[in-house]
Amino acid sequence: MHLKPVIAANWKLNHTPTDAKAFFQRFLAQVPKLNERTLVFFPSAITLTTVMDALRDRPEVWVGVQNVHTEVQGAFTGENSVLMARDVGARVVLVGHSERRHVFGETDAMTTRKMALIAQGRLTPMLCVGETLEEREAGRTAEVVERQLSAGLAELDDVQVGAIMLAYEPVWAIGTGRTATPDDASEIHGVLRRALVSRVGEKAAAGIPILYGGSVNRGNASQLLAAPDVDGLLVGGASLDADSWASIVRA
Ligand code: G3P
Repeated sequence: MHLKPVIAANWKLNHTPTDAKAFFQRFLAQVPKLNERTLVFFPSAITLTTVMDALRDRPEVWVGVQNVHTEVQGAFTGENSVLMARDVGARVVLVGHSERRHVFGETDAMTTRKMALIAQGRLTPMLCVGETLEEREAGRTAEVVERQLSAGLAELDDVQVGAIMLAYEPVWAIGTGRTATPDDASEIHGVLRRALVSRVGEKAAAGIPILYGGSVNRGNASQLLAAPDVDGLLVGGASLDADSWASIVRA
């Protein structure tokens, strides 16, 4: 099965609503309707409705949220809910991003819970997995990403698993300018694909996009996209500039 590439922008804690308006004025003028790729924007929660307004004439472009809480409502000041994400029109939810894990202490158990809530909320979870430099140098990459994947899928049924998206983001490549080589990416994407096959079978596993993230830029995007088992890109820093992002989207 040839998957339509998913090209996603994770803006993290960047771009105010004013910045977003300026970004889309420039970006949309350069990028006409794209049928051969799925674009996803993950703005901050405060900037999200501005992004949705900017994309109101581009329904083929998806908007997602960078995180949801492990509860759907209640006394959890500062958190965002999967119910709110769905109500506002978001389609995808990032789960287990390395900054959630290593900066905010998200555990595998929390990832398990969030994946279940997102699937029950009929949104698409994009589960992020990836190893630290220490884990890579210790030869534990496959063990780590398989553990993270297993935890993410623990409370999903096979149909729900078939509807996820997956992102391999080696922690040592995020924001460092040190990109994994296409071979590095393909190797670990292959590990993840095999784990998915054993969970849901060949056909369903082949339909799950596995994105690469970690210092993607306009210079390496097309090589990474051409690598076996790489079905898309999850881009941080290089997605913040409209011209750079337009180049990556067309890579
Ligand atoms: O989620 C994508 C992000 O973690 C990658 O960041 O800046 O290395 O593209 P960056």
